Amino acid sequence: MSTFAHRVETFGTTIFTEINTLAQRYGALNLGQGKPDFDAPHDVITHLVQAAQAGLYNQYAPGAGTVALRQAVVDHAARFYQLDINPQNGVVVTAGATEGIFSALLGLVDPGDEVIVIEPYFDSYVPNIIMANAIPVYVPLHPPTWTFDTDELRSAFSKKTRALLLNSPHNPTGRVFSRRELALIAQLCIEHDVTVIADEVYEHLLFAPAQHIPMATLPGMFERTVTVSSGGKSFSTTGWKVGWVYGPPELVEGVARAHQFVTFAVHHPSQQAIAYALGLPETYYEAYQAMYHTKRELMLCALESSGLQYCIPEGAFYVLADYTSVFSGTSMEFTNYLIKEVGVACIPVEPFYTPQHVDIGYGYIRFAFCKSDELLRQTQERLLKLHK
Ligand SMILES: Cc1ncc(COP(=O)(O)O)c(C=O)c1O
Repeated sequence: MSTFAHRVETFGTTIFTEINTLAQRYGALNLGQGKPDFDAPHDVITHLVQAAQAGLYNQYAPGAGTVALRQAVVDHAARFYQLDINPQNGVVVTAGATEGIFSALLGLVDPGDEVIVIEPYFDSYVPNIIMANAIPVYVPLHPPTWTFDTDELRSAFSKKTRALLLNSPHNPTGRVFSRRELALIAQLCIEHDVTVIADEVYEHLLFAPAQHIPMATLPGMFERTVTVSSGGKSFSTTGWKVGWVYGPPELVEGVARAHQFVTFAVHHPSQQAIAYALGLPETYYEAYQAMYHTKRELMLCALESSGLQYCIPEGAFYVLADYTSVFSGTSMEFTNYLIKEVGVACIPVEPFYTPQHVDIGYGYIRFAFCKSDELLRQTQERLLKLHK
């Protein structure tokens, strides 16, 4: 009988789909998936509409991305990080960061190579590594501070290590890696000749005094780093799936070779709108951070009144909460309880770990606070029930 390939045997339905269905069925406030429940900035949407109506952008875009978007990515990297990227051969536009990471793995890692993944990790990383016929090697972040152990990091490197997947600001912990932590990772990558795939989709989502330090800006790292980002989180346009990868031409060439046979090209009008968005003035980025500062405060107030413990997020729009003082059971069981009995949906930590390591995150659930202030206030009211 015809059936699916062994490669996808371990890939279940993503937890996000599962939780969205449950949240809807029980009328729960949905703090599960990392997608804003509010709209993108009006002027960014206007640029998309105008691009679609201009009669110039409704057919295939150039495979590497439109000239406008590649230039905007280069200008943005120069403006925020003083990086000097070549718009001709140093950038490739991808269908979201998700495709950027997949094309980077396909284009930069050989079958049998090892790829270091910091755990807990974004859910597509490990399936992507498996589809590239490479081998994931895990380095855990330890609760409650979500930091890695230096010896564990060091011992993850071997002769077979080809790449390290780094995400900062980090989903799901809200950590922003410090210069000291990044310097150690960089030193080991240089020592072992390892490429870094740096997932920086939350690059603008920071809470003072946290500072985002791109791995590509560390001494000796530009030439061994591809940086992946996208417009989804920075401009509340997750539905557009416009992302990019930039770095030294030799590495970007590998990504581009894979990309041309994964998606070939990305939605054309959205690229024009994201090119505009990347060039928005300082005031946009400041207002964006201020908006998320308020949301983080509302989220933390809700957790305070619930009695759940947490580590204050330094970046991104997630917080991991420890429920062990109010519930005994797995995080999937607690998530079910929270949805059905309290009316709040979150994401259990299990999918962020390989099954062998899930015990490390035992007792934690993730809330996404990219939601309206009103929904976050209602969350506080409902979570009070947990305390009682
Ligand atoms: C760490 C991380 N990387 C990548 C993505 C996916 O980005 P995109 O929507 O641009 O594909 C997400 C989305 O939640 C994420 O949290």
